[in-house]
Amino acid sequence: CGIVGYIGNNDSKEILLKGLEKLEYRGYDSAGIAVMNDTGVHVFKEKGRIADLREIVDLGVMANTGIGHTRWATHGVPSKVNAHPHQSSTTRLTLVHNGVIENYDLLKKEYLQNVHFESDTDTEVIVQLIDLFVSEGLEVEAAFRKTLKLLKGSYALALLDSQNNETIFVAKNKSPLLVGLGDGFNVVASDAMAMLQVTNQYVELMDKEVVIVTKDEVTIQNLEGETITRAPYTAELDASDIEKGTYPHYMLKEIDEQPAVIRKIIQQYQNESGQLVIDQDIVDAVDQSDRVYIIAAGTSYHAGLVGKQLIEKIAHIPVEVHIASEFAYNTPLLSANPLFIFISQSGETADSRQVLVHVKKLGYKTLTVTNVPGSTLSREADYTLLLHAGPEIAVASTKAYTAQIAVLSILSEVIAKKRGLEVNFDLIHELGIVANAIEVLCDSKDEFEAIAREYLSTTRNAFFIGRGIDFYVVLEASLKLKEISYIQAEGFAGGELKHGTIALIEDGTPIIALATQESVNLSIRGNVKEVVARGANPCIISMKGLEMEEDRFVIPEVHEILTPLVSVIPTQLIAYYAALHRECDVDKPRNLAKSVTVE
Ligand code: G6P
Repeated sequence: CGIVGYIGNNDSKEILLKGLEKLEYRGYDSAGIAVMNDTGVHVFKEKGRIADLREIVDLGVMANTGIGHTRWATHGVPSKVNAHPHQSSTTRLTLVHNGVIENYDLLKKEYLQNVHFESDTDTEVIVQLIDLFVSEGLEVEAAFRKTLKLLKGSYALALLDSQNNETIFVAKNKSPLLVGLGDGFNVVASDAMAMLQVTNQYVELMDKEVVIVTKDEVTIQNLEGETITRAPYTAELDASDIEKGTYPHYMLKEIDEQPAVIRKIIQQYQNESGQLVIDQDIVDAVDQSDRVYIIAAGTSYHAGLVGKQLIEKIAHIPVEVHIASEFAYNTPLLSANPLFIFISQSGETADSRQVLVHVKKLGYKTLTVTNVPGSTLSREADYTLLLHAGPEIAVASTKAYTAQIAVLSILSEVIAKKRGLEVNFDLIHELGIVANAIEVLCDSKDEFEAIAREYLSTTRNAFFIGRGIDFYVVLEASLKLKEISYIQAEGFAGGELKHGTIALIEDGTPIIALATQESVNLSIRGNVKEVVARGANPCIISMKGLEMEEDRFVIPEVHEILTPLVSVIPTQLIAYYAALHRECDVDKPRNLAKSVTVE
């Protein structure tokens, strides 16, 4: 979900709506704004996209203060009623909220038995509770603080009091929130991107802080009311980075940016004498650990699986890769001296953060690999490695995946050198070849569009197979296709298909096979024959040097350990065109959000 707020001398509606449009990638089930002027608070909310909200906002209402929200449903279905902002029954208070309140039901039973609820959301409990304490005689600020002390869970909150149009009350715990500073105005945003239109000066908020925002002042306090001072930072984002330009979709733009991202990474991690370098503290921490635990979700988890191969093969450190949301229950027996690496494009994923908080308490060293400097995971880990991929807006991750793998390859190489291990290839040179190869693939869009049309435009399901490192890439390939085209897609280890899933193969079932590894080239082709014998429609994507006559596409040759950086590109483009052919919303697939800040 995303939050925005504005207080100043200008009309707030357009600033809030523009801000929400920039945050739409974080959730787009429903959206709303509340603006306040001398006549009171005016709430506009609608199911669907910001565009739908725009249609119902009354342009005649002028108001210098307002808050807004775009929602990714957790409690309660996506609907107009469940959309934020939520108001207390007296309508005095209006609230937007990101996060999940774990004890909302208990609070409702204990304090709010007699209150009528409009929505099914945990958020409404918060606003009703504050109102209850106000009705019992507390000032709004004190009632807000009292409520915060009762809440268990995650929240980023912005609150309006209809009797005070000079203030926005803000608070945060676990969910991201920033306050932006302007001349004669101030703003609130869950991501600096939202308010870059008006300011690039931001103040980070820490957990359990309350902020009183007026147009001229920002006062940060802890829950006890003690004032905290914190200097602002300049958000380095370039506004043009977050525009689509001439591209029809962000996803296509971001796929095309991958050669430039790889080159940027090479440049960022290289010193003047052309050596790959990484901060010495990070190198020491990784080198001294006896086992690396990679924690991540979604596409980042898939990058972690490839990262494991790189770190083990190049730097000779054993690596385990864990799904963040499972780590708490399926905690492995930890080694004596573990190092935790959190891979996260956004640096905000709550599932990953929960593990970070836990292992920090245990006293272990932590490193975040992220695209967003200053993000929660970056701030809270001991060390950060940046992806330098530029903002990724499309919900389906593409350039962040390749950037993650590239950065992990550099980390592996630097550690290997530090350990005196022989690395028998020149990584800078090989990554340069990778960048060129991706460029060639990005120039072959027509071919991938044709493959998508032929294999995927009407199918119900699709299978991707690969062996060795290709297996990890097909997991990502199938996730991409699922996410944006809604085709039931699965990625399998070539040899595993026959142990069950082959039962699903019917006449014409598409099977996309990756063959980029010499050692398994014949066996993966054997798997393709098995499914073809049962009616499957095969599409083999191989690498130059390993190609055979039946192959549908041959990718340029790169070093065999770096093939995931290249073999993933056809699968990204095939997923993109499959979604287009099926008239899906490529950049904002149903039910998903780019950054999931709830556990
Ligand atoms: C969400 C997104 C995925 C992403 C995952 C992890 O589910 O829809 O595309 O891979 O979160 O995000 P992160 O920012 O931690 O890499």
